[in-house]
Amino acid sequence: MEQKKKVFIETYGCQMNFSDSEIVGSILLENDYIPAADMKTADLILMNTCSIRDNAEQRVRKRLSELHSLKRKNPSLVIGILGCMAERLKDKLLEEEKHIDLIVGPDGYRSLPKLLEQVESGQKAINTLLSIDETYADINPVRLSGSGITAFISIMRGCENFCAYCVVPYTRGKERSRNPRSIVDEAINLYAQGFREITLLGQNVNSYLWNEEGSLTDFPGLLRQVAGTHPEMRVRFATSHPKDLSDNLLKVMADFDNVCKAIHLPVQSGSSRMLSLMNRSYSREWYMERVEAIRRILPDCSISTDIITGFCGETEEDHQETLSMMRWAEYDYAYMFKYSERPNTIAAKKYRDDVPEEVKSSRLDEIIALQQELSLKSNRDDIGKVFCVLAEGTSKRSVNHLFGRNSQNKVVVFEKENNKPGDYVNVKIESCSAATLKGTVIQT
Ligand code: 5AD
Ligand code: SF4
Repeated sequence: MEQKKKVFIETYGCQMNFSDSEIVGSILLENDYIPAADMKTADLILMNTCSIRDNAEQRVRKRLSELHSLKRKNPSLVIGILGCMAERLKDKLLEEEKHIDLIVGPDGYRSLPKLLEQVESGQKAINTLLSIDETYADINPVRLSGSGITAFISIMRGCENFCAYCVVPYTRGKERSRNPRSIVDEAINLYAQGFREITLLGQNVNSYLWNEEGSLTDFPGLLRQVAGTHPEMRVRFATSHPKDLSDNLLKVMADFDNVCKAIHLPVQSGSSRMLSLMNRSYSREWYMERVEAIRRILPDCSISTDIITGFCGETEEDHQETLSMMRWAEYDYAYMFKYSERPNTIAAKKYRDDVPEEVKSSRLDEIIALQQELSLKSNRDDIGKVFCVLAEGTSKRSVNHLFGRNSQNKVVVFEKENNKPGDYVNVKIESCSAATLKGTVIQT
């Protein structure tokens, strides 16, 4: 009997990429591959890559140079690049990195078995065609890693917002939504397998739209259907563009206890002038009104954000507006980045990347320090409260403790007692750091 080949997939970047790696895993397992325990024993190494900032690409380049020596030891090893870097650089990557055999963009994963045959016949293989309708709806992702408790479901692909700084519309193509029935079926299946939390994923979930002979399903409608599959299946979603966050969605969130009260609402900048240059299609005031709507309709909802500092032409005054926005919104959590110019984006073509590196760095330091304060304050305000926590696994620091998340997406650590991953546990918060809440189990 022919021995099955072993594949190792390493994933970089956003949750969408992790979700795509599960689709790739599924396609390969159907085609006589089995997962390799580590890179060294693999016959095929796939790197699912990210292009969002230059340092994301540099990390992959560094890793690729390490793979060189593996290939020297084992010349039959096949190395493939998937994802956004594959799409952005195409055959240029084959020229620059001679030990790569295979390049596949985010919409080309179905062609992997064919391309691998081509590689076996001694040729390099490449597919970077983008699609207008590929959603991989019929592919049941393999959940190769993770807790068995939480899972991602990709509900749409691509992005057409064209924020001036962003490479995603070029690497992931046109926006398209996935059939809601296949999403609901996946949620039901996951519950039956023991999963208790799903995160619906898309670059901009609020513009989800499925049209079936004139009957429309929008994101609030989809969320209602998914949340209705089982009251003990928690539902999260990411990411929301502020321009499309509707009161209707907030009301659906309020209607279902199992829809988690956490919204990731990237602000990017607190300055309307910057937001306009960034092509974000909202102003500071519009964003603030959306935050007020969240506070009004979902009083216990957490809000997290993304911030870019040092975008083209950003002045000290613009920067101060970002800091004041952070103070006003009291974000529970934030991902903060220095602006990194990406080739061929609107900003790269139209504006100068003119904020000096040291200024970008010192502004980023200030933003991080402020967020640290805000996260700590938000966690301190939770001391004394009781939260329903979905246990996800054993704490890294102690085998006698479990960790999980509350509805607001905060990590909570508590003594294990008789609880196990997958259980819902009521925990009273007793102490905290800026990153974690700690508490004791309350018997109910
Ligand atoms: N430079 C820095 N940060 C970026 N992001 C997107 N593009 C860039 C870029 N060119 C950030 C945004 C986005 C998050 C996923 O990454 O904040 O919301
Ligand atoms: Fe995800 Fe964007 Fe990075 Fe692509 S470029 S992996 S879509 S974060």
